[in-house]
Amino acid sequence: MKFYENELKALKKSSRYRYREIFPTSLIDMASNDYLGFSQNEEIKKQTIDEYSKLEVFSPKASMLVNGYHEVHKNFEDELCKANGFESGVVLGSGFNANIAMIEALARRGDELIVDEMYHASGILATKLVEAKLSFFKHNCVDELEKILKLSSAKRKIVCVEGIYSMDADIAPFEVFELCDRYNAILIVDEAHSSGVIGDKLLGLFDFYGVKPKANHIKMGTLGKAYGSFGAYILASNHIVEFLLNRAKPIVYATSLSLFDTLYGHNSLKYILKNTNKLKEELKRKREIVYDELGILCEGNIVKVDIGSNSKVMQIKQIAKDKGYLIGAIRQPTVSSAIIRIILRVGVNDSDLKELIKIIKSNI
Ligand SMILES: Cc1ncc(COP(=O)(O)O)c(C=O)c1O
Repeated sequence: MKFYENELKALKKSSRYRYREIFPTSLIDMASNDYLGFSQNEEIKKQTIDEYSKLEVFSPKASMLVNGYHEVHKNFEDELCKANGFESGVVLGSGFNANIAMIEALARRGDELIVDEMYHASGILATKLVEAKLSFFKHNCVDELEKILKLSSAKRKIVCVEGIYSMDADIAPFEVFELCDRYNAILIVDEAHSSGVIGDKLLGLFDFYGVKPKANHIKMGTLGKAYGSFGAYILASNHIVEFLLNRAKPIVYATSLSLFDTLYGHNSLKYILKNTNKLKEELKRKREIVYDELGILCEGNIVKVDIGSNSKVMQIKQIAKDKGYLIGAIRQPTVSSAIIRIILRVGVNDSDLKELIKIIKSNI
């Protein structure tokens, strides 16, 4: 008995059917979120294996709130706080979990949750779990955000934005920080696609705008993207982290982050801080190539090429693949209209980026 046959048929008919694939490593990867190429960084790998092999305990074993909190976690949290200027931090298993953790725990009855309409699916899922009033504002529209903040009589107002939006590839405006201060709102910034990518020290949106973290600021960063590992971190005031440790279910009721992934994330942070200028130069050069060849101004490492047709993006993806390049063909429901998504990944030759762009341009 095939319980979901009709649904699967409908997905296939609308070119929205998804499947997993193991791609040959010979393909030049410009599809993954491995922005800094750390998934293949020998220095970070060697350092991490070295440190991991010296540990007396290799597994997280339990929730942080039982005995799953390890020195490895604490050392990374401390260095993240120091680098980003936050009082306190907590690491946990994945950015998806982090969004569920923050939103479900912080937005309580009597509060208002105010979310950018393009916020990540994990955050949107979390909004369905809360008793707080829920409002969405038009993507990056600070006027609409202000209107909602002005009208709100909620006990606490909690605003959720992303540093760089994963599919629109644009950046949250500075006014969001000003508005949250003016209306005394908590601001959650999901830096999945901005930490490691923008800012003077490549630390993300706060760094990019030179914002010194305050008591109303929460920064969430993922380790599975620029940091080349797996997991996530939440940075905030002592008070908010204390509350999350008591109330956030993916922290309280889940095994803590794997020690290997934590060490890998930590060594990636150290590498970023040590090699900031070198990494920034390469990112800048790649953004310039995209501007020269496609006329697209990239703020982060995501290039979005609007196509509109589901079948066409799949066709372009296949043509690029046949020529040795892996790119993203993104369709609904992830985006409202199909796009080609190219990642400006450190380590990919400039000549390959130019060649890929040529292929895309001649097949649009
Ligand atoms: C904006 C954003 N937030 C959160 C996540 C989830 O992070 P993770 O992959 O670590 O679960 C993603 C993943 O794609 C994302 O794009």
